[in-house]
Amino acid sequence: MKVLILGANGMLGHDLMEVFGADKANYQISGTDKDTLDITNSTQIDAYFDENKPEIVINAAAYTAVDDCEKNEDLANLINGEAVRLLARKCKQIGATFVHISTDYVFDGEKAGGYKEDDEVDPMNAYGRSKLLGEDSVRKDCDKYYLVRTSWLYGKHGKNFVDTMIGLANAGKVPLRVVNDQRGKPTYSKDLAKHIKLLIESNAEFGIYHFANENDVTWYEFAKEIFSAANINVEVLPVTSEKFPRPAKRPHVSTLINTKFPLMRAHIEALKDYLGAK
Ligand SMILES: NC(=O)c1ccc[n+]([C@@H]2O[C@H](COP(=O)([O-])OP(=O)(O)OC[C@H]3O[C@@H](n4cnc5c(N)ncnc54)[C@H](OP(=O)(O)O)[C@@H]3O)[C@@H](O)[C@H]2O)c1
Repeated sequence: MKVLILGANGMLGHDLMEVFGADKANYQISGTDKDTLDITNSTQIDAYFDENKPEIVINAAAYTAVDDCEKNEDLANLINGEAVRLLARKCKQIGATFVHISTDYVFDGEKAGGYKEDDEVDPMNAYGRSKLLGEDSVRKDCDKYYLVRTSWLYGKHGKNFVDTMIGLANAGKVPLRVVNDQRGKPTYSKDLAKHIKLLIESNAEFGIYHFANENDVTWYEFAKEIFSAANINVEVLPVTSEKFPRPAKRPHVSTLINTKFPLMRAHIEALKDYLGAK
């Protein structure tokens, strides 16, 4: 199988390259990023796809700076929306399966208990709106697709909450104040990459999937778990989001419920592996 990974230098992209690259018997992979294939450029997409003829295209490229999206909504819509439409159409034209990554932020964050795959979307910030444009294009413009929503990613190749917490504790910025009114499922990007591979190999029905490590927590609860797993003794205090005003509003409930595919493992196990691998 010829697999093309877009956004290969990003956090998830790196792990996808590693996970698919380790299975040389089944996959011939190529990876691109902004410098080799700008996904907003239809000429580059046509040239690359026509020459390389990928059978599976995984789009891990995105504009992911959630707060910056508020002031750069046009750019967010271009990368997370319009570019996805170009990719979806091209995949359809060449008969490739399109795997596109989306987010918990397409929901409004008000539903107690969390969101199933077919729950109504209603984003509350510019990033979420731009990702929803991308989702709409995938659904409308191609037929062979997996739309994988995930949440609260951390991994070896990107700035993330786990590293930030440990960095702040090591810098002696105590007591640490962490928000306790946003709930979601922290997800190890390496686990997500493996689950995406499993999805492709399962021949599952095309459609929307919710992939996140299991059991939701608040950021405050997750911070406490991080310090316990890393054997760091530090005082952590719960605070409300109001104490941390940011340009983009965040949903209170980000919990993604997976009703369609085997669940991912517990986030606490994934966290220990991540810390062990560092
Ligand atoms: N991080 C999270 O917590 C989270 C949560 C839910 C869903 N997601 C979704 O998961 C996916 C992967 O996220 P991630 O955290 O791995 O993102 P990331 O680390 O920010 O990686 C995104 C990659 O896309 C590249 N890119 C940006 N614009 C591009 C363009 N025009 N053409 C080609 N490549 C471009 C970026 O390059 P530059 O760095 O050079 O701009 C970067 O390498 C995204 O779809 C994201 O929306 C992420």
